[in-house]
Amino acid sequence: MKAMQIAEGVYWVGAIDWNLRNFHGYETEKGSTYNAYLILDEKVTLIDTVKEGFAEEMLSRIRSVIDPAKIDVIISNHAEPDHSGCIPAVLEVAKNAKVYAAAGAGQKDLAAYYGDIGCIGVKAGETLSLGKRTLTFVPTPMVHWPDNMVSFMTPENILFSNDAFGQHYASDERLDTECDLPEAYIQARKYYANIVQPYGMQTAKALAACANLPIQTICPSHGIIWTKHIPDILALYKSWTSNEYDDTAIVVFDTMWHSTEAMAHAIENAFLACGLKPRLYNLHYCHNSDVIADAMTAKYIAVGSPTLNNNMMPSVASFLTYFKGLTGNKKKFIAFGSYGWGGQSPQQVYDQLTACKAEALLPAIKIAYKPSEAQLEQITEDVVTAIKAAN
Ligand code: FEO
Repeated sequence: MKAMQIAEGVYWVGAIDWNLRNFHGYETEKGSTYNAYLILDEKVTLIDTVKEGFAEEMLSRIRSVIDPAKIDVIISNHAEPDHSGCIPAVLEVAKNAKVYAAAGAGQKDLAAYYGDIGCIGVKAGETLSLGKRTLTFVPTPMVHWPDNMVSFMTPENILFSNDAFGQHYASDERLDTECDLPEAYIQARKYYANIVQPYGMQTAKALAACANLPIQTICPSHGIIWTKHIPDILALYKSWTSNEYDDTAIVVFDTMWHSTEAMAHAIENAFLACGLKPRLYNLHYCHNSDVIADAMTAKYIAVGSPTLNNNMMPSVASFLTYFKGLTGNKKKFIAFGSYGWGGQSPQQVYDQLTACKAEALLPAIKIAYKPSEAQLEQITEDVVTAIKAAN
């Protein structure tokens, strides 16, 4: 397999994972790439590696330009195994290569995974001369692990940003100028929502730390490389880290005999009446990670579950657990659901959403067996009244 040159002496030597469909619970319907970058200078340098199992693909791309045994430096911007997994394989062939990672967390994490590999710690603002080029290291802790850092290379002004600005998007095109750009933005949003969103404050700090760098290329560790559209992806990140709302409202539910579904539509009607753009997700058909991507910028979320054996349905419990771990902005919520007897689920949903630091618009809504037309109209009216009162 071949390396792809992205600047004079700078190559993409990563791996394309066309088959990836799940990244620890995140549905990756477009696969992914693990991006590693090779710099030919007095010190031959590899920025990150690839996931274990893809070593030969990466090494063959490196071999297409240089003998991998000549690698002098490995920069580990992030120890998560999708990027560090092949450090041992590279050290196997590049016996004298030195590994650099964030001082403290990066060294600790790499030692936990791979034992003593003599990792050298680098601190904020520290530089490493490669010959004609210099790398400057900028820690970006909790974007999205404690060890994360980015590396900025002059004189080409390339930011190796690791997970930041990435997308789970397998493609043979490497650049934003040649890929399916709308798809790249969709996947960048989904990536941010599912990976980075809980760390919006830390990401905003990382953006500020990089704000004065004259970035000409952003090379993330997943997906396509940003060249022409850097202002656009930076603007999107600024908006996402600012927890800005749009005019969508999310209705998430599961249903047994369509009663909770009918209630979902009554709430949809209320959102429409308030000038919002409702989006409905039946969890029987929709994946949590897609709902999260859409929910990120919504101000309102309604979550409904029938009562099943004194509990909410497992699909709704799964969604709420996922939502609790990821939600970045503060939403206003509605909990609802139908029941035959018992009827515990709407209050359980209410309590879970309260634990997500969301704010209830009104008490949990519950209807026995099948809602009548009058009850559905009442739900719509109550939700409209609650939204107007909250604004
Ligand atoms: Fe792509 Fe946090 O690893």
